[in-house]
Amino acid sequence: MMSVSCILVRDTLYICVMEQPYILAIESSCDDTSAAVIHGQKVLSNIVSVQTAHAAYGGVVPELASREHQQHIIPVVDAALKGAGVTMQDLDAIAVTRGPGLLGSLIVGVTYAKASALALGVPLVEVHHMHAHVLAHFAEAPYPEFPFLCLTVSGGHTQIILVNGPLDMEILGQTKDDAVGEAFDKTAKMLGLPYPGGPLVDKYAQQGEAIYPFTLAKVPELDYSFSGIKTAILYFLRAGIKEDPEFIKHNMNNICASVQQALIDMLMVKLKLAAQQTGIKDIAIAGGVSANSGLRARLKSDGLAADWNCYIPDFEYCRDNAAMIGIAAYFKYLKADFSGQDMTASARMEF
Ligand code: KG4
Ligand code: ZN
Repeated sequence: MMSVSCILVRDTLYICVMEQPYILAIESSCDDTSAAVIHGQKVLSNIVSVQTAHAAYGGVVPELASREHQQHIIPVVDAALKGAGVTMQDLDAIAVTRGPGLLGSLIVGVTYAKASALALGVPLVEVHHMHAHVLAHFAEAPYPEFPFLCLTVSGGHTQIILVNGPLDMEILGQTKDDAVGEAFDKTAKMLGLPYPGGPLVDKYAQQGEAIYPFTLAKVPELDYSFSGIKTAILYFLRAGIKEDPEFIKHNMNNICASVQQALIDMLMVKLKLAAQQTGIKDIAIAGGVSANSGLRARLKSDGLAADWNCYIPDFEYCRDNAAMIGIAAYFKYLKADFSGQDMTASARMEF
């Protein structure tokens, strides 16, 4: 693939044709070690090594996560290069998640990326993890048209983002407390399910009916709150167990379906409001929770009713993955937006 850019100099239009870059991208912000190689906008490989050691602790243990990243990063990068059929010497840039995330985890990816960029003499591109979740939509056609709205839902974030361009995004609304992924995971924990519980709640919900009502939190504007629903679930379970000590076991499917529906209702109410307020009809979802089957189905059905063009990423691009880091880096590469060796990992980052 070739890329073409135009420069106007004193009334003369110069067309520059350049080879698309090969970018090695690294993601290590939480508990998945991932590496990908992209050529232009095309994903050649996308390897994710999932850390399973955390399940025993009911959540991600930061110290354990960074140690696992250290062990996995080299084999994961090797697999990504092999999968793409390229060598380190073919690379034109190294991209990495700078933040937000767990500092110890981020440092492993950032240090590896900085060392590789220095050794190869190629540019280093830092990427914001949440921008990358949004830009994962450009890994595969059809792409959303700008401006579009993206509901970004993960274990650490719940945001409605107005995306004006690849490098021009603004948050219209976000959670005031817990992220929706956290609400899924904490619900699962209360139900005695292992971490990460979101996918399991989804699995049981598919076999149940949403027969238990959970009240939705009233939050102004386009913001969210998910801390109240946890308490509601806790009291609901306590009352149920009082009547029947095996209440959870007997009602797992219906409890999961009810909680999931309440969470999705909350997400959709504000997403619809954002669409109404902005008049935008290109609507996307991103982040780990966008893998949820109920949310995907609901976006399709509500989107059809509201005449939206909906963009739902492949499962591969919903979860944390390095291909999305590579795509975000590609847009920055085109603008020569590079970082120096003084760049450091950042647990918290301005959007
Ligand atoms: O984006 P992600 O992989 O990592 C973060 O950046 O946080 O999102 C992880 C979150 C976890 O809370 C996980 O339980 C949730 O996404 N998740 C799901 C599903 N798959 C992953 N939640 C509900 N239903 C799913 N199918
Ligand atoms: Zn994420």
